[in-house]
Amino acid sequence: MANREWQSRDLAVVWHPCTQMKDHERLPLIPIRRAEGVWLEDFDGRRYLDAISSWWVNLFGHAHPRIAQAVAEQAARLEHVLLAGFTHEPVIRLSERLVRIAPKGLTRCFYADNGSSAVEVALKMSFHYWRNRGEAGRTRFINLSNSYHGETLGALAVGDVALYKETYEPLLMRPITVPSPDCYLREPGVSWEEHSRRMFSHMEEALARHAGEVCAVIVEPLVQCAGHMRMYHPVYLRLLREACDRHRVHLIADEIAVGFGRTGTLFACEQAGIRPDFLCLSKGLTGGFLPLAAVLTTDEVYGAFYDDYRNLRAFLHSHSYTGNPLGCAAALATLDIFESEPVLERNRRLAARMAAAAAPLADHPHVGEVRQTGMILAVELVRDKARREPYPWQERRGLRVYEHGLARGVLLRPLGNVVYFMPPYVITEEEIDLMVEVAAEGIDIATRD
Ligand SMILES: Cc1ncc(COP(=O)(O)O)c(C=O)c1O
Repeated sequence: MANREWQSRDLAVVWHPCTQMKDHERLPLIPIRRAEGVWLEDFDGRRYLDAISSWWVNLFGHAHPRIAQAVAEQAARLEHVLLAGFTHEPVIRLSERLVRIAPKGLTRCFYADNGSSAVEVALKMSFHYWRNRGEAGRTRFINLSNSYHGETLGALAVGDVALYKETYEPLLMRPITVPSPDCYLREPGVSWEEHSRRMFSHMEEALARHAGEVCAVIVEPLVQCAGHMRMYHPVYLRLLREACDRHRVHLIADEIAVGFGRTGTLFACEQAGIRPDFLCLSKGLTGGFLPLAAVLTTDEVYGAFYDDYRNLRAFLHSHSYTGNPLGCAAALATLDIFESEPVLERNRRLAARMAAAAAPLADHPHVGEVRQTGMILAVELVRDKARREPYPWQERRGLRVYEHGLARGVLLRPLGNVVYFMPPYVITEEEIDLMVEVAAEGIDIATRD
């Protein structure tokens, strides 16, 4: 069957995520038949370079044979067993390895099956920890403006992207929102470090005022991905760790998008030399193969739940697919690749190539900034360069870049006015050049009038 038939069958029955379905009256849906490396192939044989790692999940290319084989072997042995009362080899091995590679002191792994659920686990665990310790008055969370932590109601509540959140506001708990250290907003001539340091005063103030009623501060370390790939300096995380300790408040690091090498280090927190109280992982955890999430925490947190059953302190949270063996097998194979190949070193070269290829875009009359953290590079489109005035969202400039990308065989999926690259780590230098060239053409077209 060709694209056209799959498109019409799809549109008759499938409701797609994060999509105004009416757009597909005009925009073709792309049915994918197979994929390999950075390339997706549709039913008409057209190929698309996946410049966004399929929503930031893929690390080592599509259909990576080593991960595919690990999943197939696991499926033939044990596809799933509940993780309460029972356990299995992949989840034990994966937990041992995560504890080994995560910031020191994160010694306990709890599992979920997607990023939002991992955030729910961390929020509930933090709240419940304080309750078990006799501080039931702690019921609130501190978050950053422009943050994103997922779509379930708890995760949505601690996010701050209006596009996703506003509609559901009446259903959501109310966090204490502190201005983001986002360096796009710094004064001219101020360094990232200085700006991030200055912005910390807002957090310090919020903690000083609210610490007694707060369970945890939740942040996306270094890059606010869904919030238009806005970035900040590691110094903010160092100050935050120190302040959370001083005010006796947990720190939740949501590394669902930035974990596993995206920012240049295996975990973004490493760049600040800190250990959060909760580390949320998902997306790249399985190399992009299967939905799996892990929340790592400390013995101190674990200990607050460990008691006689009758005292009712246990964390009675579960998902049917918690710690699914297939997901764990994919994760183990992914970690094998990190262990046997110089991934981070190779990424440094690829990141440098991305920087070089995209550098000329900084001079484009409608580019307000080109910014980068490791393997994430973002280009901010603006109507007025001098004043950094954004295009009105209604104009959907990014969508024009997306359409041009598809016509030229590159999957770019701008976030509003921000065109970004977050490719799988197996992209070649030539493919980086192609990806950026196509984006640059798209930016020209999208900003022409
Ligand atoms: C930082 C962050 N947290 C949480 C999530 C939610 O993960 P999921 O889409 O798997 O629910 C995302 C997804 O993009 C994310 O970027």
